[in-house]
Parts: sequence; structure tokens; C-alpha cells
Amino acid sequence: MADSFDLIVIGAGPGGYVCAVRAAQLGMKVACVEKRETLGGTCLNIGCIPSKALLQSSENFEEIAHKFADHGITVEGVKLDLARMQARKGEVVTANTKGVEFLFKKNKVTWLKGEGKILGQGKVEVAGTTYETKSIVIATGSESVPLRGVEVDEKQVVTSTGALELPAVPKHLVVIGAGVIGLELGSVWRRLGAEVTVIEFLDRILPGMDNEVAKQFERVLSKQGFKFKLGHKVTGATKSEAGVTLSVEPAKGGEAQSIEADVVLVAIGRRAYVEGLGLEAAGVALDDRGRVKTDHHFATNVPGIYAIGDVIVGPMLAHKAEDEGVAIAEILAGQHGHVNYAAIPGVVYTWPEVAAVGATEEELKAAGVAYKVGKFPFTANGRARAMGDTDGFAKILADKTTDRVLGAHILGPDAGALIAEMVTAMEFGASAEDVARICHAHPTLSEAVKEAALAVDGRAIHI
Ligand code: FAD
Ligand code: NAI
Repeated sequence: MADSFDLIVIGAGPGGYVCAVRAAQLGMKVACVEKRETLGGTCLNIGCIPSKALLQSSENFEEIAHKFADHGITVEGVKLDLARMQARKGEVVTANTKGVEFLFKKNKVTWLKGEGKILGQGKVEVAGTTYETKSIVIATGSESVPLRGVEVDEKQVVTSTGALELPAVPKHLVVIGAGVIGLELGSVWRRLGAEVTVIEFLDRILPGMDNEVAKQFERVLSKQGFKFKLGHKVTGATKSEAGVTLSVEPAKGGEAQSIEADVVLVAIGRRAYVEGLGLEAAGVALDDRGRVKTDHHFATNVPGIYAIGDVIVGPMLAHKAEDEGVAIAEILAGQHGHVNYAAIPGVVYTWPEVAAVGATEEELKAAGVAYKVGKFPFTANGRARAMGDTDGFAKILADKTTDRVLGAHILGPDAGALIAEMVTAMEFGASAEDVARICHAHPTLSEAVKEAALAVDGRAIHI
């Protein structure tokens, strides 16, 4: 007779493994099914962690090769050892995935190795064995969206997975899609010496982010050497030994042109992954975009089956998946787990970074909300000047009447760390005045956030 559990989580990404650990902390007997050789899901194996390892290494390389001279440091004979850089990335990934394995052992979570299939309410099959469970949480994540006519081989035409594994720096990397993956991985290979062209269907980069930030970010990236072909679509790709020839057309129609690339990165979005889960037979409903349909408490239409993370509605972000993992574990334990979707930060880990929380100006306008704007440029921040990192600005949007913070958008050095203050402010329902009155250490980048809050009422000091 196979083991039975209080909870079986399917998928050990940031949603699934965090859910499993939290449920175990709350006293449940928990198993987590994962078919990959290592735990941690997309994020730890082929997403957040390896991309950040390469972003850090490539930024170090660019700094020493191109930025140190301005600080009066001359370094001769700088060389790239890509094999070592990739090996280091692998070590970082392994340290993290082993860390999750340790957490499972520590919390007595059973790792069921193999593909999980839901046989119905309370029944999950893994590697030919059927396990009984009171509850099931689906946390199977997402996969890259394919592009018709551009067949991925993970060598010449790659998704993010192949782009993290390139054995040599391409001479010309063409990125399809000016979203988060395209700009982060485009940055990695540009810093290491590739010419990078980004082809984007829309007439702007980073859709969903505040327009003003995206516009200035596009200028900054262009200054770094990125070439953008906005308002264009790729209609086909022909591969040869020499490379890939892409046919590209204006999105609104017009004359086609050819673009030659050594490597093409397809980064046009991700979609929910539910293959092999047996959802149809189990009667679990999907929404019109193929995501598992859930209510506000992560429950699907089948009693006892829940879903979290990239496989359901909402931003496809690791921290969103983690928070949902904690929330559903607490709900299953009879507590009041919840996620505040109004205060989920988003960060693009380029340099400078882009970070945002809450509403954009465009969203406030569309909703007819009267708002005030406070902005402060990093050119006027002493620490940014000392660092030589003055591109960008901090921007705070506050309700015109109540002064409550409605959104914050930062383009600049360490924007990803700086946004945490504004997430906290929004979580506590702070006003711009509250943020402006907090004492910020000098000289720090965080003073730009304080000054943006002061600027909401036109009283920034340093501009
Ligand atoms: P996943 O992490 O996708 O995990 C799902 C797991 O389920 C997988 O391991 C899969 O093997 C397993 N699985 C699927 N079906 C089955 C089955 N039937 N049986 C057993 N196992 C199964 N987000 C950020 O917040 N910050 C970042 O910096 C960031 N960088 C990223 C960079 C890249 C290149 C990519 C691709 C994504 C990045 N993301 C980032 C997004 C982040 O990786 C996802 O939002 C996050 O991993 C979602 O977590 P999840 O638990 O829902 O699913
Ligand atoms: P994305 O949704 O961020 O961007 C896709 C881009 O491709 C959009 O600009 C879109 O307009 C464009 N596009 C769509 N179809 C196109 C076409 N046919 N031709 C040209 N352009 C086209 O998706 P991306 O970059 O693939 O990332 C997927 C997800 O992974 C993101 O939603 C994000 O949540 C997550 N992610 C998060 C990271 C982070 O938090 N730092 C890093 C990497 C990924």
C-alpha cells in the first residue's frame, strides 16, 4: 500500500516547494512531485538564478573592460573565459537546488520523483504508483510560447533555456520580443561582445511597465549598443550552417526585409504548463488562455484540488508564486492566507535596473483616477554620481486627494532593491508624505526615492 498524505504538491518550483515547506511547518504530511532531476523549478534551474548569475558575471566583465578606466583604474589584457563563467553559473544553480533538497529533508517533505498525474479527487499517480491525499496543489509552472515559422532547436534558435547555455558569444544575436527575458539575456550577451538587435511587435519595449520609464530605458539601452526594431514582426526563419535568416515585416504591414543572425532568441512570453497532468480526465477547468481556473482562494472547480504560480492567472514571477504557495498552505491549515496583488513588485535585472510596484500612469488615466506625480533623477543623487551611475529616475504616483501611494516606478542603479521601500509603503497604505518624512541615510540611492516622494508636492530639495 503506497503512502498517503495530507497534501501532494505537483511541481517543485518556487510556488510548489515553498507551499510544501510551509504546509509541513504547519504540521501536514506533505509530498512534492517533481519530474526534473533537481528541485527548484524553472526559477532555480533555467530562470531567475542562472540568468542572474550570468547578468552579474557579464556586468563584472563590462565594468572592468569598459567602466573602470573612468575611475582611474587601468586593467590590461582583460579576457573572457566563457567556459568558467558558465561553470560558475552551474555551481550557483546547484547550490540553490541542493538547498531546496536540504529544506525538504529538514521539514520532512517527501520528494516523489517523476511525472505526477491527477487521477481524480485525492489521487495522484507518480511513476506507476497511486498515492492518496486529502488535498492536491498544482504548481506546474510555465513554458516558452513558440513562434510560428521560427522553429526552436536550442542551438541557433533558442528560448531562454538555450540562451543561458550558449557555448560562444554570438556575433549577432537577434532577440524576438522586447520583454523581460529579451532585455535581460540580450544584456548578458551584449556585455560579452555580441551585437544585439531586438525585434518587437509593439511600438514600445516592456509593455505593462510605465511608458515614461520604458521610453527612457529604451534610450539608455540604445546608448549601451542595443538596436531596436519596434513595430516589427518576424514571419519566418531559414537556418543554414552560417546562421539564421529572418524575414521581418512592419507589424502594420509593408515591405519585408531579411535580417541575418548567428543566434535568435525567441522571447515572446510564457504560457501555463499542464501537459501530462490529466486535468481533462480529472475535470479541472482551464480559462480561455489555458491556465488552471481558480477562485480567490486558489481552489479549482474540483473540490480538494488547488493551483498556484505561473500556471494560474497573474504575473509570472517567482515571488508571486512563493506568496501563493504560503497562502494556500495556510488556507489548508485553516488559517487566513492571502496575497495582496496590488503590491507585487516587478524588477528587470539589467543595468540600470527597472523596478515597479502598483499602478502605472497609463492605468490610472484609463481608470479615471486623479493622481499626482513626483519624480527625481539619479543625476541629482550624490551617491549615484559617486558610483558613476546616473541614468534614470524614481517616480511616485499618489492619489490627488488622499496622497496615498498608488504606484512607484524606478529606472536606475539598484532599482530592484530600492522598490522594496515602496512595496512596504503600499502594503501599509502609506501616503507620499509618509515616505517623504522618513529619514533616509546619506549618501544612499534611497534618497532619490525620498526626493521623489517630496516632489509629489513640489518640494524636492535637490532639484
Ligand atoms: P516553475 O518554477 O515553472 O516550476 C514548475 C515545476 O513543475 C517544474 O520544475 C516542472 O518540471 C514541474 N512539473 C511540471 N509538470 C509536472 C508534472 N506533471 N509532474 C511533476 N513535475 C512537474 N521571476 C522572478 O520573479 N524573477 C526573476 O528574476 C525571474 N527570472 C526569470 C528568468 C527566466 C529566463 C525565466 C524563464 C523566468 C524567470 N522568472 C523570474 C519567472 C519565474 O521563473 C517563474 O515565475 C517561477 O519559476 C514560477 O514558479 P512556479 O512554481 O509556478 O513554476
Ligand atoms: P514578456 O511578456 O515579458 O515579453 C514578451 C514581448 O514579446 C512583449 O514585449 C511582446 O509585445 C513581444 N511579442 C509578442 N509576440 C511577438 C512577436 N510575434 N514578435 C515580436 N514581439 C512579440 O515575455 P518574456 O520576456 O518571454 O518573459 C516571460 C515571463 O517570464 C515574463 O512574463 C516574466 O514575468 C517572466 N520573467 C521575469 C523576469 C524578472 O522578473 N526579472 C525575468 C525573466 C522572465
